[in-house]
Formats: sequence, structure tokens, C-alpha cells
Amino acid sequence: MKLGKMLYAGTFDPITSGHLDIIRRAAALADELIVGVLTNSSKRCYFTLDERLEMIGIATEGIGGVVIDSFGGLLADYVKANSVGAVVRGLRATMDFEYELQMAQMNARLTGGGAETLFLMTNPRYSFVSSSLIKEVFVLGGDIDGLVPAAVYDYMCSHRKEIK
Ligand code: COA
Repeated sequence: MKLGKMLYAGTFDPITSGHLDIIRRAAALADELIVGVLTNSSKRCYFTLDERLEMIGIATEGIGGVVIDSFGGLLADYVKANSVGAVVRGLRATMDFEYELQMAQMNARLTGGGAETLFLMTNPRYSFVSSSLIKEVFVLGGDIDGLVPAAVYDYMCSHRKEIK
């Protein structure tokens, strides 16, 4: 049984192997999985929106039922406007839980209970991974082999920026 249209939203600066693991598993559950990139992230991004979208495209090539989109404003408004039935989140560790609980409850309120939040437990191989940590190690020349998909790593290398 498939669970309808689902949304996996984030900043994806850049998409990591941990994100991709969640995307693969969520896509297997959904009729359609939208990977939604936030345009108004409060985070200072290293990669532009177009670069982040392109990397997601590269990473998710060949995974059926995945649609890539970007949005600004409230996640709940996007959910309502696009008839999304469930928001997918990955849980890496217990420290994620309180923040996720708050967001899930706020989103439930804002959507009038119209969408569920579904949590997938992150593959333990990636439980320490975050986009910020990957960027920091990458910028400082450390090894991120396997923590981002190989094609994404190549893309990152060819779009390396000078940090002032
Ligand atoms: N594997 C690897 N990394 C993961 C991960 C996983 N399974 N799950 C989360 N992460 C990382 C992310 O890369 C991110 O790393 P970073 O902080 O270094 O960038 C970090 O964990 C936090 O992830 P997340 O909480 O998903 O942050 P985000 O910025 O990517 O996305 C939104 C947050 C988009 C879901 C949230 O800000 C949002 O909904 N914004 C819209 C505005 C809104 O509606 N606000 C009210 C919300 S109730």
C-alpha cells in the first residue's frame, strides 16, 4: 500500500548520503515524493539554490516517483497548496526528537490536521552526518568520501567557492 503524496523538505546544502537514504526509503512508500528545497532558509548557504537543486537531481536520478521543487514561506502552506498527505523527516538521534516534535505539532496545527509527519530512523551509518559538518570538512580539505553521493562530490569539487 502506498501512502499518497509525501514531502521531504530541507535546505540540502548539500544533499548528503543520509538524505538520500531517507529519500529512497520514503519514495518506496509514497505514490509521489516531493523533495522540497527551502528558498528562505535562515541558514547562510554555501551552494546557490540552483546548485542545490541540481545536486538533488543528480543524486536522485533513477529513483522512481521523485519530484524536485523549491518553496518559500511556511511548509504548512506548501503542504496545503499541493495536497501533500504526509511530511517525511529523518530522525538521527534523540537530540533531534524535541525539535522534531515541536515542528510536527506546529505543522499539524497550521495544516488543521491535514497532513501527518512521518519519521524514518536514519541509517546508523549516517547518524553523525549533517550538511554543515560535511561542508566544513570539505572546505578544509578533509575526506567526505561516502558521506555524499560520488556524483555530488564531483559536483561540489567543480563548484568549490572561495571562502573569504
Ligand atoms: N541525514 C543527514 N543529515 C540530516 C538528516 C539525515 N537523515 N536529517 C537532517 N539532517 C541534517 C540537515 O542536513 C541539516 O543540517 P545543517 O543544519 O547542517 O544544514 C540538519 O540536519 C537539520 O535538518 P533539518 O531540520 O531538516 O533542517 P533544514 O534546514 O534542512 O530543514 C525545514 C528545515 C525546511 C523542514 C524547516 O525549517 C521548515 O519547515 N521551514 C519552512 C518554514 C516553516 O514552515 N517554519 C515553521 C515550521 S513548524
